[in-house]
Amino acid sequence: IKTIGILTSGGDAPGMNAAIRAVTRSAIFSGFSVKGIYRGYRGLITNEIVDFKTQNVSNIIQMGGTILKTARCKEFQTPEGRQLAYDTLRQHGIDALVVIGGDGSLTGARIFATEFNFPIIGLPGTIDNDLYGTDKTIGYDTALNTIMECVDKIRDTATSHERLFFIEVMGRDAGFLALNGAIASGAEAAIIPEISTEVDQLAELIQNGFRKSKNSSIVLVAESPVTGGAMALAERVKNEYPGYDVRVSILGHLQRGGSPTASDRILASRLGAAAIDALLDDQRNVMIGISNDNIVYVPFSKAIKNDKPINRELLDTLRRLSI
Ligand code: F6P
Repeated sequence: IKTIGILTSGGDAPGMNAAIRAVTRSAIFSGFSVKGIYRGYRGLITNEIVDFKTQNVSNIIQMGGTILKTARCKEFQTPEGRQLAYDTLRQHGIDALVVIGGDGSLTGARIFATEFNFPIIGLPGTIDNDLYGTDKTIGYDTALNTIMECVDKIRDTATSHERLFFIEVMGRDAGFLALNGAIASGAEAAIIPEISTEVDQLAELIQNGFRKSKNSSIVLVAESPVTGGAMALAERVKNEYPGYDVRVSILGHLQRGGSPTASDRILASRLGAAAIDALLDDQRNVMIGISNDNIVYVPFSKAIKNDKPINRELLDTLRRLSI
């Protein structure tokens, strides 16, 4: 391997720039050439590739988003699209890829790597924290802090008006942001997809009289067809329990922005450097993760489409602290 291509794909996440910087600089440190691929897999199809030197990644560690831009590329999901991508890689002499992204991006990486026997290392970049085999994903901590700050603000108005707020947070099919966001912001409850099919979380909350000792309440709801989302839950409360003064707030894409926290910058730097170690170590088609503060290699097949379990102790903690 002489030349390594790097791209970011799928939803952006704070810390992706720190990861781009770490991969680029570690690669150059070890004697590789680096090429930056713009707009994710789309850039491989449309040939948007530039040489990356250490200066290309100066002054970006503190920036949210991704300087390489990102996309969700439908064409890469077709064999014809992937063939075009492969041709571009050959044309640029790129003989390994580092892909920074979430579940969908690593799924694409896995298919491509198998189809063309091409070495790819994945880095978990998503605010959702839903990749199996890593304790944290790049961007998750920043998004969690953003959620916490937003909920702190909403609490001021919730308390003043004595209202019940349903605050919807991102996470796709996972409840990590909702559950940990609820604990960090002192919310009364979190409604998450992981247990939505087990219990009617809303009915349970109301029956337990979750406003017993309080004149306002905040419930974090994970976006997901399984929870139904904050709007649907608020409608249900209005119909079934008309005594509550209910409001909804959907935090949306502001959760994806902002300067990465120290924790995300450090995680991205470690994982980025480890991606190059992995290539030097002849690793192929693995995601670099962190487990108990150690770098781990997780095969793509395990990292994706594998439900990462939530820690049930957190649910219990939230329940005990919200009385
Ligand atoms: O995967 C990251 C994420 O922000 C999810 O939490 C969310 O469901 C989705 O991306 C939104 O995607 P888009 O920005 O394409 O609407």
